[in-house]
This record gives sequence, structure tokens and C-alpha cells, in this order.
Amino acid sequence: MSNKTSAHAPQHLELEIYSNHMEKKFVMTGVMGWPVAHSRSPVIHNHWIQQYKRQGAYGLLPVTPQNLETAIKGLRALGFAGCNITIPHKVEAMKLVDWIDPLAQRMGAINTIVVQADGALHGFNNDGYGFIQSLRDAQPNWRADAGPAVVLGAGGAARAIIVSLIDQGATEIRVLNRTRAKADALAQEFGTTITALDWSARHEALAGAALLVNTTSQGMHHEPALDLNLTDLPADTLVSDAIYIPLETPLLAAAKQRGNTTVNGLGMLLNQARPAFHAWFGIMPDITPELNKIVINTF
Ligand code: ATR
Repeated sequence: MSNKTSAHAPQHLELEIYSNHMEKKFVMTGVMGWPVAHSRSPVIHNHWIQQYKRQGAYGLLPVTPQNLETAIKGLRALGFAGCNITIPHKVEAMKLVDWIDPLAQRMGAINTIVVQADGALHGFNNDGYGFIQSLRDAQPNWRADAGPAVVLGAGGAARAIIVSLIDQGATEIRVLNRTRAKADALAQEFGTTITALDWSARHEALAGAALLVNTTSQGMHHEPALDLNLTDLPADTLVSDAIYIPLETPLLAAAKQRGNTTVNGLGMLLNQARPAFHAWFGIMPDITPELNKIVINTF
């Protein structure tokens, strides 16, 4: 009797788990973070569960750093389909899974775990995908090679965004960070596409930019506005902010007033959720105007 096991392509394993979950009928997922109460991910995923008539639930999983290992290993024991991983666990969680997607490896962080049919924990990072899709939602013919991109910040979000811009064909990325050494390290790691500049040069660095991305915490609720003079910003630069609370940061408000097209961080959040839902529930969900409205109403 032939009892050949299938090839170990991750894609295939994901397909196996869909049928596994369909047998189980009820698919448990959630978001692990600390703190995590503010997360909008349950609203997004539970909306899709209803919309696509899936049986399952997506919950908040408040997990302290000390409990992260036990919690991640517990996914398998609890029969979870997987979970999202958010601040402050995105880097640490990488060490606790059995396999890491090469893209996530380059980004140096994971934001999604998918429990495979054999119980193995696979780590992915969909943040960069979410970011690129959010740009395309705002500007369907957006191209990464349209001109220089300026990325402010050099933390986790910046890494995911930089890797995805490079993969989309960006030819020049100017990275500016308050702590210059972190921008230099990114340039060293990702090569000549990246030019690290001093934080003090951020105003002039906007000249000729096709894309501006803020990944710093400046402009977030309870934080001061980003100190950035937009005088040199071309009128056709696409201006994006990874922040989604508030939906319109002072940077986006100022750019909009100058006539620039703007993209807020909610688009990135919604779009990164799509491949995770696909992996757990077997369908690529849509971002409908209704979902947008539901999420915006939670602010
Ligand atoms: P995330 O995962 O959201 O990227 P992070 O890794 O903590 O979060 O990164 C936060 C970013 O905001 C960093 O680039 C940080 O700059 P430093 O590397 O110098 O810390 C940036 N940031 C935080 N406070 C800032 C401030 N007051 N002015 C400018 N940049 C700031």
C-alpha cells in the first residue's frame, strides 16, 4: 500500500491544516501581546468569521514576556490554529517557533503563527505585505521604483517596510533615524539601496521623494507630533504613516493640506490581517467599506 507523505512545502502544509480545521469545525485564534487590550484585530477577524460563515473565534491573548514561551507552546496543546504576535513579542517569538518563513527571517520578526497539521509552529510576517497593499489601495498603479522612498525610523516596523520595498523593486531608500547607528545598521544589512542619513537631515531628505513613510512613534496618540518641515516635499509624494491611532496624524493632516495623497496605518493593519485569516480559515477575506466603518467606529 502506498502511504507516501506529501512534500514539505509550507504551502502544502497550510492546505493540510485547512482540512484539519474543517474537521474540527471550531477554529481558535487570537493576538498575543502585552498590553493587548487596544488591539483592533479581534474586531477585524471576528467580522470576517461572520461574513464568511466560519466557525471560530479570535480573542485577545494578554501574555507577559515571562510567559511567552509557555503561551506559544500552548497553542498546540490548546488546538489553536495559530495567532498573531504583536508588541513586544515580535522578535522574541521567532526563537520559539519551529520554522520561520524566509521573508520573516529577513524582517527579523514574526507577526503570525500558523499551527501546522503535524503540530509544528510556523512563523510569518505579513506587515510588509499589509503596508504595500495599503499603498496600492490608495494608489492602484503605485510602483516602488517610481522614485526615492524616505523612511523615518529604524525599528521593527521600518525593517518590515524596508524589506517589502526592496522586494517590490525600490531603487533608493533614504533611512533616517533619531539614533543614527540603527539606520547605518540597516544600510549595512540591506545594501546599497539604502542610504542612511542623519536625523537632522530629515527635512531636506524629502526633496525628490516619491514616497514618505513615518514609522516612528511621533504623532501617535499621547505622543508629540513628528517634527518635520514639509517645504521640500514634492506635491506628488505619496505620504504614509504606520500609526493608526489617531487615523490622521499631524503629518498626514499637513501633507493632505498640501495636496499630497496620504495613507494611514489602518490600511496596513487591515491588509496584514488578510493572509493570516487565509492561513487559519482557508479564505482570503476582503476589506469592505463596512469593515472599514466598523473598525473606524471603535476609535
Ligand atoms: P516599531 O516596532 O513600531 O517600529 P520600535 O522598534 O520601538 O517600534 O521603533 C520606534 C521608532 O520610533 C524608532 O525608530 C525610534 O527611534 P530610536 O531608534 O532613536 O529610538 C523612533 N522614535 C521614538 N521616539 C522618537 C522621537 N522622540 N523622535 C524621533 N524618533 C523617535
